[in-house]
Amino acid sequence: MNFNKTKGYKENSINFFNRMAEKNHGDSYKHYKTVLSWIDYKTERDILDLGCGKGELLKQIEVRLNSYKIDKKFKISGLDISPNMIEKAKNNSEIEFKVGDSEDIPFAENTFQVITCLNSFHHYENPEKVLKEIHRVLKNEGKIIIGEININDFFKKLINRILPYTSNGDVRIYSSNEIKEIFSQEGFVFIKEKFIFPSLKVYLFKKQKRSS
Ligand SMILES: C[S@@+](CC[C@H](N)C(=O)[O-])C[C@H]1O[C@@H](n2cnc3c(N)ncnc32)[C@H](O)[C@@H]1O
Repeated sequence: MNFNKTKGYKENSINFFNRMAEKNHGDSYKHYKTVLSWIDYKTERDILDLGCGKGELLKQIEVRLNSYKIDKKFKISGLDISPNMIEKAKNNSEIEFKVGDSEDIPFAENTFQVITCLNSFHHYENPEKVLKEIHRVLKNEGKIIIGEININDFFKKLINRILPYTSNGDVRIYSSNEIKEIFSQEGFVFIKEKFIFPSLKVYLFKKQKRSS
């Protein structure tokens, strides 16, 4: 699959989301309900949110993990390329938040049972690199829950032509089939998807053990 690889998307993302940290942009509230309902809080207690923004989703995950009064401790972490977003996320939170790039996830292999990534994947210049990193830090059979824009092919093509000339750090919009194709190529098995009106889709994939 060919992707636009015009330089400057990361810088644009950092600048744009540093500014947006002061506003309400970038919180995917419509996805949260579905994502939160796809996690089993009794057994899945090591969770990473990629492109976590101000950490709103992780704060809701933390409440649910805390509501299970069981011995198994939990580890929840958030990673975002915008220092200002992470600064906001850290306020009043015990969750581990780090500034960093999803192309180079600063955690050891086999660390997480669940990785979430909401409205961030379309900012990634090298999506295959991100998927390799997700595969590395996920435990076997681990889940990746991804929420992305879902629009018809006509508008997708039109917007993808325009995106290289915009400055918000958006790289490209994917069709459902493209998402499934690149995830499958990088060792993930598609489990389910849910369309959220009017233009969002949430997907669940599981890590497949690599044969070599
Ligand atoms: C539209 S916001 C979504 C924020 C959050 N996931 C939510 O759903 O509320 C996209 C986020 O992805 C982050 N981002 C963009 N490129 C990134 C990268 N290469 N690595 C990590 N985070 C990135 C941005 O800084 C921004 O906070």
